[in-house]
Amino acid sequence: MSAHNILIVDDEGQNRDYLSEILSQEGYNVSSASNGKDAIAKLSQDAFNVVLTDLQMPELDGLGVIRYLIENNLSCIGIIFTGYGSVKTAVDAMKLGAFDYITKPFKADEIKVVVKKALDHLALQEENTYLKAQLKAKYKFENIVGNSDRMQKVFSLIDKVASTDSTVLILGESGTGKELVARALHYNSPRSQNPFVPVNCGAIPEELLESELFGHEKGAFTGAFRTRIGRFELANGGSIFLDEISEMSPTLQVKLLRVIQEREFERVGGIKSIKTDVRIIAATNRDLEQEVSEGRFREDLYYRLNVIPLNLPPLRDRKEDIPLLVKHFMAKYGQEKNGKTVSFGKKAMNMLMQYKWPGNVRELENLVERVLVLCDSPEADLSDLPEKILSGSAGDTSALPQIDLPESGIDLSTAVSEFEKSIIIQALNRSNWVKNRAAKLLRVNRTTLVEKIKKQKLQKPAEVKLG
Ligand SMILES: Nc1ncnc2c1ncn2[C@@H]1O[C@H](COP(=O)(O)OP(=O)(O)OP(=O)(O)O)[C@@H](O)[C@H]1O
Ligand SMILES: [Mg+2]
Repeated sequence: MSAHNILIVDDEGQNRDYLSEILSQEGYNVSSASNGKDAIAKLSQDAFNVVLTDLQMPELDGLGVIRYLIENNLSCIGIIFTGYGSVKTAVDAMKLGAFDYITKPFKADEIKVVVKKALDHLALQEENTYLKAQLKAKYKFENIVGNSDRMQKVFSLIDKVASTDSTVLILGESGTGKELVARALHYNSPRSQNPFVPVNCGAIPEELLESELFGHEKGAFTGAFRTRIGRFELANGGSIFLDEISEMSPTLQVKLLRVIQEREFERVGGIKSIKTDVRIIAATNRDLEQEVSEGRFREDLYYRLNVIPLNLPPLRDRKEDIPLLVKHFMAKYGQEKNGKTVSFGKKAMNMLMQYKWPGNVRELENLVERVLVLCDSPEADLSDLPEKILSGSAGDTSALPQIDLPESGIDLSTAVSEFEKSIIIQALNRSNWVKNRAAKLLRVNRTTLVEKIKKQKLQKPAEVKLG
């Protein structure tokens, strides 16, 4: 049984009844209208697949009905019937966009065939729109470059999950393209007309993050002069991108878990529950499983986020993508610089292929821009590459922290001490200044750490409290 909806428009009741009977027998859902105006009222309320309309009617004629279908871009096919001798008007109607015409008196077989043809045409049209949409999606991926098998797998996963509402967890080192992928997921989803709202959980101080995410009511804390809408509300209907999710405090992790489970939250200082319809995309460059096993990230939240994990491989594991990426960035920055372009000579390209790229694609992008600006000849050679890449390829320092040696040299012991200080502060912050935990992270015993903290004169920062 077909579920297609058909509308018959004719001012003569006899004709309406006859056509209704034939088409109902074919299994279609048939409605009717006695003039053009009535037809438009019905068309604006229900979705019809085919409209069969008489030409001459009081109020609004058949041409008016066809015009309405076209102007409103309805996915509905218009067919005209016409009396003997008014074929010319029928042709006019077809020029306007009617699909076909039927001459009176009606012949049951002819009507069935024309309606069937119209429905086949409609199916084809719909398939076409679908294919076009798919093509558009492919086009939108064009700013994510990668020919390697591993990137092809990433593309096919994006393709599969973009259209769903499933939570995606994007994992990958810094500079591997996590934000780019998050945007591709959103802009290739049915939510693309609604906002994509990024939140960097690592860059916003803990005390502010809650109100940033959920908003606050006027007077919720000192300085809250008016009600503020949070990012979850802003993202309603769209997607929220929770970047650096591992940096979220335990208290906020609990609140986020609730939003994921119940799709509702309260503003800070508020009691009213607010519903939200957002797709959640999260990202981190940390090993979240390890964060869970070390007690820094809630296991239940991890499972809620890790519905679809999307791993972005580091650039050193897909070096075959380097030439393509270079070309891509050369075109991107060349455009900004009046079409200037520089190619990489064999030796320079070899160097890029040997280097380990600790900063991944972002580092490569910066390098291409730099070469394009600084290189005066059309082909870059070794002398156009930064020292770091030349030495990085010779002795492998990729696993080491990258600190540039200044032109004027450096005092080694001060540099080492500063490096030590920076690492200790990071460990303390990450463990909330619980020294046992920080010592574990640094693989030293607690006494050694306490000595170093004293020597470096480090102090726990004062808690900032709001309200
Ligand atoms: N496959 C790719 N094709 C083209 N450009 C890329 C690709 N991957 C990354 N980029 C570019 O590299 C830069 C860094 O990407 P992005 O900001 O998405 O990385 P990230 O993983 O979010 O890094 P971080 O963890 O440091 O925030 C951006 O300018 C992005 O456009
Ligand atoms: Mg990022």
